[in-house]
Amino acid sequence: MNLIKLDAIESTNDFLKEMSRSQIVENFTVVIAKNQTKGKGQMGATWETESGKNLIMSILVKEVLKDIDEIFHLNVAVALSVIKALEPLNLPKLSIKWPNDIMAENKKIGGILIENSFKSDNKIESIIGIGLNVNQINFDNLPKASSLSLLKEKEFDLNEILEKLFFQIKKQCSLLLSNQHDFLWNEYHKNLFKLNTPIAFSDNENNQFMGIIQGVNFEGRLEVLLNDDSVKTFGVKEIQM
Ligand code: BTN
Repeated sequence: MNLIKLDAIESTNDFLKEMSRSQIVENFTVVIAKNQTKGKGQMGATWETESGKNLIMSILVKEVLKDIDEIFHLNVAVALSVIKALEPLNLPKLSIKWPNDIMAENKKIGGILIENSFKSDNKIESIIGIGLNVNQINFDNLPKASSLSLLKEKEFDLNEILEKLFFQIKKQCSLLLSNQHDFLWNEYHKNLFKLNTPIAFSDNENNQFMGIIQGVNFEGRLEVLLNDDSVKTFGVKEIQM
């Protein structure tokens, strides 16, 4: 593994992006940091972590996406990689909350932020950022967050988890490259949080409604069965649950 270890950095995603802008970076290069001062989350949120306790990593993958329309397929492959890497730990109710939050026991234990860019030859390069709460036990300001340590009441070796995750990312990316989309989608659905369960949603106008998640389509839109028996699809920015 081509691994770059940092103490503190603004964001491992930004570090790797900048590195790849200024030099040739080997495919599957990994950057990890003990701490981030400007860790980035989904939709402009910040990603907070306690220094040295958690897995903060970014990995550069080249040309796994052949078409920008397939953007969600990489989300599926990466979310599954995290699930498969954590499966041996037997965490309670390990699942993927659409689009790609990693959950256990109804709390978020990890998040994924993938940033794609076109290189000069029009090929797509992706920076996969993963934050996984491993040994942090204090989440005072984040009541919906948890960690492996809190759930299993023991400390984990960050290197071991990194190795497992790296292995899975390469494996799931190779499935993507060999066009195993149906297989990946099937696995994603097997692990989807609240699939086929009635839950409350709210839309951008803060309207609350009940619905049943039916699945996620190839564009990454959530398919929800509504009370009037119609099925509506929602994009990531159109619905909260
Ligand atoms: C989310 O909001 O769920 C996504 C969180 C992604 C956090 C990771 S930590 C490593 C990488 N660097 C960043 O700045 N963000 C991602």
